[in-house]
Amino acid sequence: FMNAEKNKSLTGKKVMLTAGPTYEAIDPVRFVGNYSSGKMGFALAEELAERGAQVELIAGPVHLTAHHPLINRIDVTNAQEMFEACMESFPHCQAAIMSAAVSDYRPEHPSELKIKRSGDHFSLNLVPNPDIAMEMGRMKHAGQVLAGFALETNNEAANAAKKLVAKNLDFIVLNSLAVPGAGFMADTNQVSIIDRENKKEDFPLKSKAEVAKDIVDYLEAVLKKRET
Ligand code: CTP
Ligand code: CA
Repeated sequence: FMNAEKNKSLTGKKVMLTAGPTYEAIDPVRFVGNYSSGKMGFALAEELAERGAQVELIAGPVHLTAHHPLINRIDVTNAQEMFEACMESFPHCQAAIMSAAVSDYRPEHPSELKIKRSGDHFSLNLVPNPDIAMEMGRMKHAGQVLAGFALETNNEAANAAKKLVAKNLDFIVLNSLAVPGAGFMADTNQVSIIDRENKKEDFPLKSKAEVAKDIVDYLEAVLKKRET
């Protein structure tokens, strides 16, 4: 029988994606988090699924809906939950794109009760969260492709290249906050992709849906090279 899915370039591939921020509880009503909207990650999920990939979308708290039936969405709240979901999913995947803005720290002792205002100075003790991308880089086997994002405000290319090596990524998507119209909340983004040979490819400012196409094209090329 003929099936429309059959001719798509990523049919038969399973790809893990992390997206959105993580929220780290301070108490039942407050958290430590960041401004990530998850739009770039969800655009990637739609693009991957559109090309026939089975997508494991591990999403932090976002106000977005995934539409494509090939997207299996797993909702998490904090970095520890995201880490556990990734540990479970990544071994079954041929590729992973780590686009989540994971909180680097979490409150050491979240309060079970709402913390009362006292009028005094108040400080939060934060402890480091697991580096999920780095753990995936350790787990990765020869056939798997692992990609990350780097959000930088200064020394962009050098910092991104360092992360690529430290986390054992195959390529890293550099997201510049210096470019107007790029970054967290925007519907547009301007990225560069840096590979293991330190080759840098710059893409123009585009909608996140168009940027997702560029990133998935790049991923496909890397996957193809692996197979030959
Ligand atoms: N990342 C992750 N888990 C973390 C922190 C980051 O998986 N706890 C991933 C991000 O999803 C991204 C890459 O690592 O793909 C780089 O994230 P970024 O925050 O830019 O880098 P960090 O290594 O956290 O360094 P810093 O925030 O100090 O720049
Ligand atoms: Ca970080």
